[in-house]
Formats: sequence, structure tokens, C-alpha cells
Amino acid sequence: MTESAANQLETLVSLCKRRGFVFQSSEIYGGINAVYDFGPLGVRLRRHIRDLWWREMVELRDDVEGVEAAILMNPRVWEASGHLSNFSDPLVDCLGKCHQRWRADQLTGSTCPNCGGPLSQERQFNLMFKTFIGPVEDESAVAYLRPETAQGIFVNFKNVASSSRQRIPFGIAQIGRSFRNEISTGNFIFRMRELEMMELEWFCRPGEDAEWFEYWCDRRLGWHQSLGLKAEHLRLRPHAENEKAHYALASSDIEYSYPWGWGELEGIARRGDFDLRRHQEASGRDLQYTDPNSGERYLPYVVEPSVGVDRTFLALLLDAYAEEEVRGETRVVLRLQPAVAPFQVAVLPLSKKPELIELSRRVEHGLRGQFATEYDDTQSIGRRYRRQDEIGTPLAITIDFDSLEDHAATIRDRDSMEQIRVPLEQLSVVCAQKLDQAS
Ligand code: GAP
Repeated sequence: MTESAANQLETLVSLCKRRGFVFQSSEIYGGINAVYDFGPLGVRLRRHIRDLWWREMVELRDDVEGVEAAILMNPRVWEASGHLSNFSDPLVDCLGKCHQRWRADQLTGSTCPNCGGPLSQERQFNLMFKTFIGPVEDESAVAYLRPETAQGIFVNFKNVASSSRQRIPFGIAQIGRSFRNEISTGNFIFRMRELEMMELEWFCRPGEDAEWFEYWCDRRLGWHQSLGLKAEHLRLRPHAENEKAHYALASSDIEYSYPWGWGELEGIARRGDFDLRRHQEASGRDLQYTDPNSGERYLPYVVEPSVGVDRTFLALLLDAYAEEEVRGETRVVLRLQPAVAPFQVAVLPLSKKPELIELSRRVEHGLRGQFATEYDDTQSIGRRYRRQDEIGTPLAITIDFDSLEDHAATIRDRDSMEQIRVPLEQLSVVCAQKLDQAS
């Protein structure tokens, strides 16, 4: 990574900690590599990301159902899905001074990039975390933390198809935690060991999957733009033959232009009938779909758009971050869209005078049913504006002494910093209009 890219990332990491978006997990014990916790503002942003995905992929459609499958599954699932034998990265160890481990497919030379020492033979390292079910830690008790949510959908395909009465083509969506014992980590929350995925398995007739693949690539690219990511920072990149996952007939990544270069934001794959066929064979259960009109029976083909909450979170923050000169000072502003911003409206009394606090609290309570609001009466008004800019709040309402007389307040726009005076009873309508325009 170049120095300026590293600085850009470092600045964001520091903002995330200072303002309560992201903390290192178990920080007081020195942390744990590639595992992160999300603070009060991070939780809000993530919730908005999940809600927007769920709304687009499930609620606004007639043809998608949701599930929440368990993280622990019968280990035979992972044998059948191919994850036990194929979900691995090639690993080499430094045999020189530093003994560092590397992913062989990411090395450019034949010696250790750290100390120049010789490297071991390549071996495959499975990325699934193992645990034991019950008190006895032997092979028969081994279970795995799921590395993708998709398998919880495939093994429930028949249950959902028969209980929901959906007809092909239809989809099953799921949001949930997954775990990967990644070898090469780094770049903040880009590659983590505990992550959250938003996955759709779209079941269609064999032979119609190529068309649906195009459809989902378009829809998903459009979704990322609707969240506010700049079109020039997004691209769709088809996978080369040697990049495809073991289950994929074809796949493409939606890539984002991260500070260190283009990288995966979302993966879209044509999985064919790979998963249902393997589960049918391994379980002995008939997983075929029966067409209610023709009576035809077949294993549906699957198209899968799969995106991480965490990578979406990172891309949104990187894309929204801006520094600008205002009256000789640097202003940091997160230009997040109102729909994703942790707060949409902040209510700030100009001083801690009890009358102003009382009125401000009343105004904030009046708006909280409609908007994501924050009340803040700490520090000077200048510092509070700075905080709201840095956390991406699109509108700040200031209640001042005149408000007690003229029953009006000032709305400050995050992006233009323009301030307008608005009667208290019109605050909700004007805020709604302004947020709408900013979307
Ligand atoms: N079921 C398909 C699947 O697992 P993937 O491309 O391996 O496909 C899908 O993962 C998405 O999950 C990625 O595009 C990325 O957004 C996210 N993701 C995968 N591994 C991740 C990790 N270690 N840390 C953060 N996000 C990750």
C-alpha cells in the first residue's frame, strides 16, 4: 500500500475509534487479530445497511423469503458442500528468521517478503473454525462455525418451498454472522475472522440462470449506488477461470476502489445445482422442485449475490470521508446519505440554560418518531457542529434564546453549512424535505 493510502486508512481508523464506530475486539488485552467490535455509531450504521438490504431484497419483492439458520450445523453439511475439502488457502511458512506465515497465492517472489528467508513447501489450510459439541473433544464431536450463510439456505430449500408456496423463480435471503480463519488479514475491517454476510440464493430453472445472473449483477450494482457510493468507485469484474470458488459455474465481483486499489465488495455467482445436488446425494433426501403446472421435477439452478455488511460499512465510510478548508480551518465531514447516517437530525441547545434544555428536549422528543435523532448539550456549539459533521449527521437544529420568543429554530445543513430559520411547528416537515432532497 502506498504511504498516502496507508494514511487515508489510518485517518479513518482513528475517526472510527474516536467517534465510536469501530473498536478493536478485546482491546484492553491487546486485541485479537482481525476481530472487531462496533460501537454506538457503528451499530446504527450497520443496522441501516442491513435494513436497506433487507428492504430491497425481501420486503419490496413478492418472490423472496427470509430465513435465519443456526451458525452451528450438522458437520455433514460441510462435507457435502465441499467446504471441508475445498475451502482452503495455500499456505507457506518462512523457514528463516521470522517464521511468518504467508498465503502462497499472494506472494510475488520465492523468498520470505519480511526477512528474505527460504519458504516451506506449500500446504492447504482450511479456513473453517472447528469446535466440539458436547463434553467430549473427539473427532465425532467436531462441528464448524459456518464460513457462509448460504448452506443454511440450501438445506432449508425444501422447507421454505413447501411452507411458503413460492414458485420458481424465487429467492431465499439471510443475514448473519460467518467465521473464516483467514491467513492474510489487515486493511482494518476489510478481511476479518468474524464477519456478517447478507446473502440471497435465487432458485431458477436450469438454463435461465445466465439471464438471472445479469439481472442480479445490475440490481446489486444499482443498490450500492443507491446507498451513495460513487459510480466511478464501483466496477463489475468477471472472474477468471482460476479465481472461481469450487461451486461456481461463473462469477463476478462488484469491486470498490479502496485506498490500496480495487477489491471485492460483493460476489455474485452462478452456483448451478451444485449445492442442492450434493446435499441430495449426501442426505438421501429428494430436494427436487416439482413444477405445479407441468409436474416437471428438477433441481433448480442458483444465482447468488453475497455481500458483507462490514465491507459495505467500510466502503461507505471511505467514500463519504472528506476534508475541506473552512475559514482557514480543516473541516472533516462524512457525506453519508441520510438513510445510512447514524443520526439524521441532531438537536443542540445553544447553552445549558434550563429553559433551552427543556425546549430542546421537547423538540428532540417530537422528532424521534420520524427521524434518527440525537440530543447533545455538551461543549461549545462550534465543537458540537464539528462532531456532527464528523459523524455524518445531515441536519443540526439549534435552539437559541430567540427560540423562546419567536418559537423558531435554526437548521444547519451539514454539506452546505447553510442555516435557515424555521418555525418549531414546521421543523418536522422541513427536515423531511431537506433529507429527501439529500437522498
Ligand atoms: N456464499 C458466497 C460467499 O461466501 P465470498 O465471495 O467468499 O462468497 C461474500 O464472500 C462476501 O462476504 C464478500 O464479497 C465480502 O463482502 C464478504 N467477505 C468475505 N470474506 C470476508 C472477510 N474475511 N472479512 C470481511 N468480509 C468478508
